[in-house]
Amino acid sequence: MTDLSTPPVPTIRALDALAAVIAEFNAVRPLETSIAVALDALRRSLDAREVSLWLHTADGLVRTWVAGESQVPEAAVTAALAAGDEVEGVRAAAMTGGDRRVGALVLHLGRPVERDEGTLLRAVANLLAPELAHAERSRQLEVEVAARTAEIDRERRFTEKIIDSLPLGLYVIDREYRVQAWNRKRETGMQGVSRDEALGRVIFDVLSRQPIEMLRREFDEVFATGRIQEYQMESSASGSARTFRITKIPMRLGDSAVTHVITIGEDVTEWREGQHRYAQAEKLAAIGTLAAGVMHEINNPLATIAACGDSLGYRLEDLQQKGANVNKDLFDYVEIIENEVVRCKQIVDQLLDFSRPRQLAKSRVDLNDVVEKTLLLMKHHGGFKKLTLVKELDQALPAVPLGNAEQLVQVLMALMINATDATDAADAADAADGQGTITVRTRTGPTPTDGAIVEVSDTGQGISRPELSNIFEPFYTTKAPGRGTGLGLAICYGIVQEHRGRIEVDSVVGKGSTFRVLLPTIEW
Ligand SMILES: Nc1ncnc2c1ncn2[C@@H]1O[C@H](COP(=O)(O)OP(=O)(O)OP(=O)(O)O)[C@@H](O)[C@H]1O
Ligand SMILES: [Mg+2]
Repeated sequence: MTDLSTPPVPTIRALDALAAVIAEFNAVRPLETSIAVALDALRRSLDAREVSLWLHTADGLVRTWVAGESQVPEAAVTAALAAGDEVEGVRAAAMTGGDRRVGALVLHLGRPVERDEGTLLRAVANLLAPELAHAERSRQLEVEVAARTAEIDRERRFTEKIIDSLPLGLYVIDREYRVQAWNRKRETGMQGVSRDEALGRVIFDVLSRQPIEMLRREFDEVFATGRIQEYQMESSASGSARTFRITKIPMRLGDSAVTHVITIGEDVTEWREGQHRYAQAEKLAAIGTLAAGVMHEINNPLATIAACGDSLGYRLEDLQQKGANVNKDLFDYVEIIENEVVRCKQIVDQLLDFSRPRQLAKSRVDLNDVVEKTLLLMKHHGGFKKLTLVKELDQALPAVPLGNAEQLVQVLMALMINATDATDAADAADAADGQGTITVRTRTGPTPTDGAIVEVSDTGQGISRPELSNIFEPFYTTKAPGRGTGLGLAICYGIVQEHRGRIEVDSVVGKGSTFRVLLPTIEW
């Protein structure tokens, strides 16, 4: 057995051969080529029939570079390595990188291996070993880097998916105000800008429609204070007016200074309308309770005033019949008292419409019938008669299963009287009497919860945006004192709500308004 720790001194022939191998080896890169060259040089100098280089990798893989015609069986290599000498024409030299075995150089000759040849094999093995170790390390490193990159990629895609799935617009800017993240909603939502267009650009260039100075102040505030800032913003960029809640959140990559600002934009239009409706319902309920409470208190004095007025009238007539000279003014005063008492009673009655509980009987109602009944009553209304009436009734309109026809007539009456007043006012403004048109329309809604729709449109003066938010308030009126109490729409609102429906308004100042009542056609 040869002692591998003290290799024998090689002969000149072997040294020459080794020098040739080294020269060629050093001249050629990369590794695979240098190995091929080294093997070739080895083969030439050894006159070997077969020279094989085997590489045993750390994870058990065996890679081979075979220069000869056939491979040496692995068992023979293992045996030769263990023996440290030739076994059945196979001689193997272990290759180490650091303290790790990276492979073995295996020589397979068709004859016994000579001593010099063994030495030469070891020398070449030592020459190639660091290269192999390096290649092996690079390969492992490559695999690791690829795995880590794939993992980071997965994590990034996961985080991206999360922020893209949010029903909110979200973007992130750094201290140079450059966009570092831009989610899907931000691409499709209001002022939608594609991610490719936004990333890396200065936010003021991207959101060019917003006032730069204001935007900069908002970001700077978060950078400076490190506190979350919240704003509300109205926008009509998408066509209809919508309310957004904008939140700016500080983000720190390290422990100290704010490095980024996350901006979240949330469409809170529905939420705000819900809040508004809730507040409105609360207010109506409060008025209802109040009305119920004071009803008797007011009704009794009113009855007394009415009775006193009546008897005053009789007395005056009596005196006149007896020949007394009664001033005509006194009769007028009595009449005024009577009229005003009637008006007060009406207001009290209207207020009572709010009082709860007041569950009126509900039954199947055909909205087309409700329209016809209302029009019958409106026939006697002076202003309404002068206008052009357009009636478009959907004959296939589904019935409202739980409705109160009387209350719904009351709603339509209130809407038509308002429409008449608005058209009168518009006429007064352009001095063209009787030009207005009122359209009453019924149609089938898109869903069972909005199944039956009745609309009253007018060509009146319209309602401005600030006014729109007030018209359903109890006692809100723009009409001359004595002409409106401001309760009409508030009562409509209450009734429609009791029917689990809703009222919508579209209005353009100077053009006219449409009030739309949507009622459910399913039982609830
Ligand atoms: N079709 C309409 N066109 C324009 N403005 C309207 C219309 N309907 C309602 N409004 C506005 O809304 C306000 C409130 O209406 P609402 O019916 O509640 O009270 P009102 O008509 O003033 O008084 P009343 O209690 O007699 O109905 C009106 O004063 C008017 O300014
Ligand atoms: Mg009214």
